[in-house]
Amino acid sequence: MNLGYLKVVDSTPLFVAVDKSYFGDAGLHVDLKEFTTGNALISAMVNGTISGATSVGMPPILFALEKKQPIKVIADGGEVVASSRPYLAIVAKRGSRIREAKDLVGKKVAINGYNTISDIFLQVVCSNAKLGNMVQLVTLPFPQMLNALRGKLIDAAVVIEPYVTIGLKNEEVDILVGSEQLVPSLRTSMPCVSERYHSQEQDSVENFRQAYNRATEFIMSFPQEARQIFAKHTGLSSEAAKELSLLNWETNIDIESVLAKHKELLATYNIKERGRVSVENLSVIFDGNNNVVAVKDLSLNVRAGEFVCLLGTTGCGKSTVLNTIAGFVQPTTGSVSLDDRPTTLPGLERGLVFQRPALFPWKTVKQNIEFGLKMKGISKKHRSKIVETFVQSVGLRGFEFNYPAELSGGMQQRVDIARVLANDPLVILMDEPFGSLDAQTRVMMQELLLRIWEEFGKTIIFVTHDVDEAIFLADRILVLTARPGRVKEEIPVRLHRPRSYDVVTSQEYVHLKKKLLGLIREETVKAMKVQNEV
Ligand SMILES: Nc1ncnc2c1ncn2[C@@H]1O[C@H](COP(=O)(O)OP(=O)(O)OP(=O)(O)O)[C@@H](O)[C@H]1O
Ligand SMILES: [Mg+2]
Repeated sequence: MNLGYLKVVDSTPLFVAVDKSYFGDAGLHVDLKEFTTGNALISAMVNGTISGATSVGMPPILFALEKKQPIKVIADGGEVVASSRPYLAIVAKRGSRIREAKDLVGKKVAINGYNTISDIFLQVVCSNAKLGNMVQLVTLPFPQMLNALRGKLIDAAVVIEPYVTIGLKNEEVDILVGSEQLVPSLRTSMPCVSERYHSQEQDSVENFRQAYNRATEFIMSFPQEARQIFAKHTGLSSEAAKELSLLNWETNIDIESVLAKHKELLATYNIKERGRVSVENLSVIFDGNNNVVAVKDLSLNVRAGEFVCLLGTTGCGKSTVLNTIAGFVQPTTGSVSLDDRPTTLPGLERGLVFQRPALFPWKTVKQNIEFGLKMKGISKKHRSKIVETFVQSVGLRGFEFNYPAELSGGMQQRVDIARVLANDPLVILMDEPFGSLDAQTRVMMQELLLRIWEEFGKTIIFVTHDVDEAIFLADRILVLTARPGRVKEEIPVRLHRPRSYDVVTSQEYVHLKKKLLGLIREETVKAMKVQNEV
């Protein structure tokens, strides 16, 4: 059984079960693989890199289940209990001016990943302190946060045990808010497996559950020894381990009722999944000799994790809309927002892929992909881990040390996609990314993109003038009018997923294509008329 985990206190039962040979006793061979976020664990289960994972936080589990991703919760994890030291806390550098939640306004705060437990906790704190969306988010793996604070790359961080203890022990940080003050009984994580593993390996799942429960019982009976086992497996000093805030472990709990309780918690604080884009009454006029109205009164809403295509004839304003969402073009009137926060400047949470890959020619594939991570101050070891994940996803293993000029156009475009994914954006904006590729490569890239989208669950807004491409990819197609661009019609695509190119022969596909070609033709004719009049 391949098991993914995070280096956090939630993984204690895993370390205990390995250390005490409980897995072996249960007849299970277990291989462990360290990951950096709960989201990455879910993706790895979905794509089959691992069969299961511990330390997947509750919020990523809930969001994954809501999106019907093929994972199954199999047992209980721990529960945060009030103790002298919080399990999860917002910390700032000791002696800094940031002393309480309200001081976070305008500051850079690290979370472990969007929609993870650290993100949700911060949202709850911000909601209580009435801070709205006024903090800047940076995503960083937990083990990197104290380092980033030291290097002043961030102002505060939401850290989880053992990093709360390490930070306090070294007298590096002060706690602004601890989890126990706000969410008195927040369950932290639950072990999960992929649905495939669950249906094919029922015995192994049962054996895992037994070994895991045996380990949680051990932790409750011998907490000091459990702390030392944790230290041994994570490199924590034995002195610090003595102060580690262990969770309250339980076995055989009712999974459904725990999930329901968490849903309620998210609802109470009105927490929605991040990744929603909203454009309202957008108009863009380019000043110049003859003021060009590129976009006029355009509105659109994109749900978290949705794949939307903007389809329209050349010059209708597609790139302008995308560049406005990206923050490169300012609205003349109207507004663009991401998760209810107006976006006026470019930001890493919106990744861009253009027709021509934006790669540094003098950097290798690996260096190109890890560039953004380096800027965030992520250590070499963690960068390599992250790069490995995305190189694998875009199928470029073995090319890590090649330069862009040594790769085909399609491969370069794959590096660009990996580069954007490595920055952990909420939204990926794509402007005719496959426009310059030959037909064969293009189809392969479209299939690859769909796989990646299904795996990582990011919101994608994809611009194209190719009707087939839009139908094949999208959940929803927004057909734009000729310039100035407005949404002429909104067409949902109900072709089942995962999609393969066979769909092009289906009746639904043919019907959609006919309809879209008609709409596009109307607009092309209009655009040509205008040109002739000019
Ligand atoms: N920076 C700019 N300054 C002046 N006019 C611009 C600028 N950018 C775009 N335009 C004009 O705005 C209109 C819309 O352009 P835009 O690039 O958004 O269209 P598009 O739909 O992406 O076209 P294509 O399919 O050819 O890429 C065009 O008439 C274009 O000439
Ligand atoms: Mg364009």
